[in-house]
Amino acid sequence: MSLYQTIAGIRSYLEPQRLEKSIALVPTMGALHLGHVSLIENAIAQNDLVVVSIFVNPLQFGVTEDLDTYPRQLEQDYQLCKKLGVNAVFAPTPSAMGITENSNSVATTLVVPPSEMISVLCGKYRQGHFQGVATIVTKLFNIIQPTRAYFGKKDAQQLAIIRRLVTDLCLPVTIQGCPTIRDTSGLALSSRNQYLTPQQREQAVILFRSLRKAQALFKTGEYNSSILKETLKQELASVPDINVQYIDLVDPVTLAPLETIETAGLLAIAVYIDSTRLIDNMILHRRQPIIAVDGPAGAGKSTVTKRIAKALGLLYLDTGAMYRAVTWLVLDAGIPINDEPAVAELVSQAKIELIPTDATNSNIQVTINGQDVTEAIRTPEVTAQVSAIAAQAAVRQALVKQQQNWGEKGGVIAEGRDIGTHVFPDAELKVFVTASVQERARRRWEEWKNREDVTLEQLEADIQQRDTLDSTRKISPLCKADDAVEVVTDDLSIEEVTARIIELYQSLDSIAV
Ligand code: PAJ
Repeated sequence: MSLYQTIAGIRSYLEPQRLEKSIALVPTMGALHLGHVSLIENAIAQNDLVVVSIFVNPLQFGVTEDLDTYPRQLEQDYQLCKKLGVNAVFAPTPSAMGITENSNSVATTLVVPPSEMISVLCGKYRQGHFQGVATIVTKLFNIIQPTRAYFGKKDAQQLAIIRRLVTDLCLPVTIQGCPTIRDTSGLALSSRNQYLTPQQREQAVILFRSLRKAQALFKTGEYNSSILKETLKQELASVPDINVQYIDLVDPVTLAPLETIETAGLLAIAVYIDSTRLIDNMILHRRQPIIAVDGPAGAGKSTVTKRIAKALGLLYLDTGAMYRAVTWLVLDAGIPINDEPAVAELVSQAKIELIPTDATNSNIQVTINGQDVTEAIRTPEVTAQVSAIAAQAAVRQALVKQQQNWGEKGGVIAEGRDIGTHVFPDAELKVFVTASVQERARRRWEEWKNREDVTLEQLEADIQQRDTLDSTRKISPLCKADDAVEVVTDDLSIEEVTARIIELYQSLDSIAV
């Protein structure tokens, strides 16, 4: 692993590799802890090359803030990145980034997010902070040009602003939000926790405890903002040394203040313990849960997924049918399959619908641009071309967006390779259905009993090869989410796997909502 301290250095390292490899960026200010580590681990699992940036950004600190005392421990951070398997650390000095140490006298072009997003929550008390963040993150995106960039949900306002920045400025990067990592007491990890004395650390546990209290009330059906915030306030008041800066409930995407939670709300708090400022948050969802099923080919996930959808009355989000519908549309329009720009145009304007035609959702009508294609997408012509269409980045991007729109309503189950990590990273239940290579080969062997042109060994080798291909492909690699429950199906029947997942679903707390 190498350390680069200049823009020219990191650029020349990445340039020759850019074409064949997916590149991840994990932006940090160093003093790395397990929260950062989880971002890095996700990045390693999903990409060929991982760059961690370490830069204590003067632009995002206010004059009275802790720029000078912010913990700096480059050598230790470097060793940790090396141990984790990071490919490069980018740790420029402020002047290498074109920024002088004194943030007040900086003359630079600034990226200014929409005022309604920076005048709420932390933005209200940290003037200039989010434009400092947006500016540095834009610079980092332009320097590294990552395929994906990783941010923690711990900083929910930062994540929402960066998602908006990427949309508004059409930046070609996918933003991955990662769950908040906490210590065993529930305290969210933060570089600033280093400032706390052992006694203050104990007091800080009240942040998460009070969020949990409000969440418990929400789960009983209380959606009123004032009541939820009041509960939180009272709970925080049980620790006298805590000074509350704000308690707010806003829309998780737009950050607009909410009076009641219609679909989802971001409940966020900032407090001071002595001079240390701590933040925490929780997203409260009213929707029905989403189940994300991932796993290697041949593990039996599609059969199981259909059965679960039927048993629980969830919508089976048949992503395969969506790719087939696009393939049908491309063929119908007479566009050559490999004309990616034309396909991209067509797919970005297409509207696919999956309409249940009975009460148990077991029969689904598929329409594209209003036309019923349920039968038409099953023809050999479509089957022959669907993988070529599904391998196109623009197609995947457009369809993932449509799938996520479906997800907003909740009550959905989907299966694939990256549903839990990419399509529905917020799914309430993530399952990774897998089986050994030998078992998957044996199952296929059973299915193909009458064929004499393949041997069991050949099937094993094929499956092994497919696994490697699926986990290393640039687009949608097979990936097990950190928070997925693994179900190994070697010794289980389809009924047993289905029952196990239904059991997991029924034990979710959010089901009571
Ligand atoms: P920093 O505070 O170092 O955080 C770097 C990344 O780690 C952020 O995306 C943050 O949300 C994430 N993170 C921090 N604590 C976490 C936790 N307990 N669980 C999960 N993720 C966590 O945020 C910044 O730096 C800066 O603003 C930056 C984006 C680098 C721009 O300067």
